[in-house]
Amino acid sequence: MESTRSKLIRLLADAKESYISGQQLSEQLHISRTAIWKHMKELEKDGYVIEAKPKTGYRIKKFSGNVSSNTITWGLNTLWIGKEIIHKPTVTSTQVVAHQAARDNSPHGTVVIADEQSSGRGRMERVWHSKKGKGVWMSIILRPNIPPYMAPQLTLMTATAIAEVLDQYDGIQPNIKWPNDILIQNKKVAGILTEMQAEQDRIQYVVVGIGLNVNQDNTEIPDAIHYRATSLKMETEKEWPIIELVQKILEGLEKEYESFLKKGFGDVKSKWENYGFRIGEMISLHSGTEKKEAVFLGIAEDGALLIESSKGEAEKIYSAEIDWFVED
Ligand code: BTN
Repeated sequence: MESTRSKLIRLLADAKESYISGQQLSEQLHISRTAIWKHMKELEKDGYVIEAKPKTGYRIKKFSGNVSSNTITWGLNTLWIGKEIIHKPTVTSTQVVAHQAARDNSPHGTVVIADEQSSGRGRMERVWHSKKGKGVWMSIILRPNIPPYMAPQLTLMTATAIAEVLDQYDGIQPNIKWPNDILIQNKKVAGILTEMQAEQDRIQYVVVGIGLNVNQDNTEIPDAIHYRATSLKMETEKEWPIIELVQKILEGLEKEYESFLKKGFGDVKSKWENYGFRIGEMISLHSGTEKKEAVFLGIAEDGALLIESSKGEAEKIYSAEIDWFVED
């Protein structure tokens, strides 16, 4: 159910530049005018700039761009993801905080988000650069009732949800590089790291870590990865609203997750393939020291990478990296 605070923001937002009287707000929200005033003070604490004009009413002069558990919650349209949000200005890694929270019984759908990570981690023990206030650095705790072997499908599902969110914006055409790198114009803008705590046949919890480069400038991407990394700002030459992106990703993820549990992986597979990078093309793959080249056919019903074998048959690959640039 939408909270009073979210409804209040919506009413103020709908009024655009005009003032809404305290009386009107109090009638629509069924709370006293003193309570309205207290809500306004709370909004100001979270970075909103509110103008209160005597005998006229209130209007929002500036929406808050500060990430906090409040600013994410207000306007978040989900049933269970993000009902609990742990926001920290600085962490080593949101994955570390989320694992601890999961061990401490934080519920399914808990979100851990930080402004900055000092040791952000990527797949294959790589470093994930997470500059303060420049991107979405968050981890989500899930407690799915599925066997552990299906967990990688959650990662493909998350990649699909993120690609669908980015696709809603003009000027952005995302691709997904198997299994879960989000690319724009062949450069990586987002990555997903899924970590799981499980017994042989039961998942205790999964932590899905999402890193999305949002407002970095050219100079804020380390030189060493310049040739293969980008941010939304670098692609569009404008600042992006981090809170809105977080809300849309959480909403999209909740929808995809519900559909995945009800209908299985089939739907995710076809959506994933809509964004699949280099499907139908010759790709070069490596796993450890083994390298091969083959035509990329798509993904299998279980999420494996499908290539055309030398005998012309479809062959499943579970663990490999697509060589994407020569330098990789
Ligand atoms: C990758 O592409 O290698 C995965 C990158 C995942 C980065 C995110 S940022 C939030 C969360 N915390 C981390 O330390 N890593 C993930």
